[in-house]
Amino acid sequence: MNNFEFANPVKIVFGKGTIARLSSLIPQGSKVLMLYGGGSIKKNGIYTQVTDALKGYQLWEFSGIEANPHYETCMQAVDLVKKEKIDFLLAVGGGSVIDATKFISAAVYFKGDPWDILAKGASIEKAMPIGVVLTLAATGSESNDRAVISRVSVGKKMNFANPLVYPQFAILDPEVTYSLPVHQVANGVVDSFIHVIEQYLTYPVDAKVQDYFAESLMRVIYAEGLKVLHDPHNYGIRANLMWAATNALNGWIGVGVPQDWSSHRLGYALTAQFGLDHAETLAVILPGVIQYMQKEKQEKILRLGAAVFNIVDGDIQERVENTMATLESFFREMGLKTRLHEYGITEQDLDVLSAPVDQLGWKLSENGKIDSRAAKEIFSLRL
Ligand code: NZQ
Ligand code: ZN
Repeated sequence: MNNFEFANPVKIVFGKGTIARLSSLIPQGSKVLMLYGGGSIKKNGIYTQVTDALKGYQLWEFSGIEANPHYETCMQAVDLVKKEKIDFLLAVGGGSVIDATKFISAAVYFKGDPWDILAKGASIEKAMPIGVVLTLAATGSESNDRAVISRVSVGKKMNFANPLVYPQFAILDPEVTYSLPVHQVANGVVDSFIHVIEQYLTYPVDAKVQDYFAESLMRVIYAEGLKVLHDPHNYGIRANLMWAATNALNGWIGVGVPQDWSSHRLGYALTAQFGLDHAETLAVILPGVIQYMQKEKQEKILRLGAAVFNIVDGDIQERVENTMATLESFFREMGLKTRLHEYGITEQDLDVLSAPVDQLGWKLSENGKIDSRAAKEIFSLRL
């Protein structure tokens, strides 16, 4: 196991009816800005639950944060925060609203051009406190220090991470996920499963706690993910999926182990250029990354196959191929496409897709082997 230092300061408040706990979590007297997306919270009752819980606070609202949140929209919220002298940000939504809120919390105090936080990794010294009411189990953003933001005018999607943007608390009420469209549920299942994969499917470093923990999360997400499609109002299934998604990217399984975020990074261009949802990008790319890196990842692929899919028969190559095929079938069973041509993307688009790897000088994967030439090969495996 590699050395590590780790602290996750996010207080989790989990369960039915927990949105009512908001007033005990946000300091009295705060000037609160509630941030949300396109309006789903007004249809499913979450908006009323939040505003009821915040009676007695000075409350402002900022709505219209897009899926794959836009830099331009975040900057409008920054203006509002400064104008009204807001001092607490409450994100009510999924990964997009939470990520936007993290960026806003940093941009408000940033001296200089806030785009540099994303484009140049500029360091930040201060961020506004954030609370979260999670409405979609997927990204783990409610319990980590990362955010991903798109700038429409330049067609780029970029990320940043900083401990200052950890939320102070996250409320996780599984019942609020009942209203999700089935495709968003499937996206969440696939995204959270692949978060575990990106921290697990590299090479062994004898990190037993992390490996067994990762395998248990994948078993839960795989089994409950298939069930939720047929039983969407089952509280137990929703609760297990929600807690698994948080644990998949709150840092714990990633400490002291090599990681490979290639599929996530390569997916940014698919969203920025072709508008795919985040999880849709992953379901297409991950099988290509594993195929390309199958020699380097062989030991862990075999272990994944046995521990999660019960693939124990056959020689090494048969088990590797069976595991890769089972993984792809899982994504398809969840209703996601796994090939570029299904989105109308052809060989002519491969240069555009691999361009960011070149421009940003990325050397991806656990061993830095994936450069722009390799990225292009991976995309071509997925045509
Ligand atoms: O905008 P509204 O109307 O609220 O609708 C949203 C949105 O259209 C809807 N929705 C959310 N909760 C709902 C609901 N509809 C009905 N009932 C509910 N309870 O779902 C749609 C998608 O929401 P979004 O927040 O975009 O989804 P998700 O949570 O999958 O977040 C995706 C974003 O997170 C980033 C992705 O890149 C993408 O931009 N990620 C953030 C990460 C992080 N911060 O750690 C890691 C991830 O790998 C990911 O990159
Ligand atoms: Zn993800």
